[in-house]
Amino acid sequence: MIRFYLLESYQMELWCIWEISFLTFLVSRSFNDSALFWNVLSTNEHEQEAIENIISKHKKTGWQGEVKATTKKGDDVWLEMAVIPFSTTDEKSELLIIASEITERKVAQLEIDRLTEKSFEEKMSQQKIISSKIIENQEKEQNRIAKDVHDGIGQMLTGLKYNLESIDMKDVKKATSKIEHLKELTSNIIKGVRTATFNLTPPELTDHGIVPALTKLTQELARLTGKEIVLFNKTDFNQRMESLAEINIYRIVQEAVNNAIKYAESSHIIVSLSHSAKILSIVIDDNGKGFNPDKIKHVKTGDGGMGMTFMKERIKYIDGRLFITSEESKGTRITLNVPLNN
Ligand SMILES: Nc1ncnc2c1ncn2[C@@H]1O[C@H](COP(=O)(O)OP(=O)(O)OP(=O)(O)O)[C@@H](O)[C@H]1O
Ligand SMILES: [Mg+2]
Repeated sequence: MIRFYLLESYQMELWCIWEISFLTFLVSRSFNDSALFWNVLSTNEHEQEAIENIISKHKKTGWQGEVKATTKKGDDVWLEMAVIPFSTTDEKSELLIIASEITERKVAQLEIDRLTEKSFEEKMSQQKIISSKIIENQEKEQNRIAKDVHDGIGQMLTGLKYNLESIDMKDVKKATSKIEHLKELTSNIIKGVRTATFNLTPPELTDHGIVPALTKLTQELARLTGKEIVLFNKTDFNQRMESLAEINIYRIVQEAVNNAIKYAESSHIIVSLSHSAKILSIVIDDNGKGFNPDKIKHVKTGDGGMGMTFMKERIKYIDGRLFITSEESKGTRITLNVPLNN
């Protein structure tokens, strides 16, 4: 480490103290006008100019900062430089310039900055993939609904219209049997609408909050799948939360229950809710076959399901915590803890 202290009077009488390691010696020499300080510091013209600018701009006010310089050998070095003005007499003022080499520290700092930027960029691109997957998924969901409505409900409505038009009231017997058939068709249409839309945001959620919406979800899924899916509100939670928190909690539970239906092969799925003054905790348990959460393929590769990734994204978004515990043939437990800000 080379450290030097340099005294420059405005008359260009320069005093320079060089300190190398612990050995200090004094170079007491008068520089001639051409031997300018910045020329001593760097061999690079641009750097000399930059240092000159700093010194002339701040010689009255003082300055401290980092400057880059190039040695005679052509090596890049970083210097921490302080420009300190002081007056020795009323007429004469001098400038003390202290520069210490900080190349090692600076290189390490630049490397840290580079790595931070790199990991930030990686995070951003990861975030971009997730965002585009979310949009893609929404698009898929809309397509699914459009297809269900068009192919299923649309066809049935056409059938309903055709059948209604063909009823001949003069033939009472035939008309009666047609009406019976139409009743059945109408209940199928109602069922079709239910199936096509139960994944959408339920009105219960916006109107009445988490508990009524989850009650409806579990009842509806139990009815559609024939499985035992129950909700226990252990602490009679009935608070309203911010709408974004409510929708994200609802989606996480919906995904966890849907996964249990799809993969667990379990007889029971239990959603339990409990709360304290600060936290709402929801646990989704199944008694199914379980899985290894560490082996779930990551979103980065683009393969594998998106459900778990979305669950993690959503919980982060609402400042909550998500825990997944699962063991083969012992079932799965998904726990979400969400802060209650009231
Ligand atoms: N309750 C569960 N029981 C058993 N296996 C599960 C359970 N939940 C998740 N899994 C396993 O974890 C995998 C990943 O789930 P994830 O929800 O991320 O994707 P997915 O359900 O396959 O697809 P997507 O949610 O995008 O429709 C599933 O494919 C399944 O193998
Ligand atoms: Mg899933």
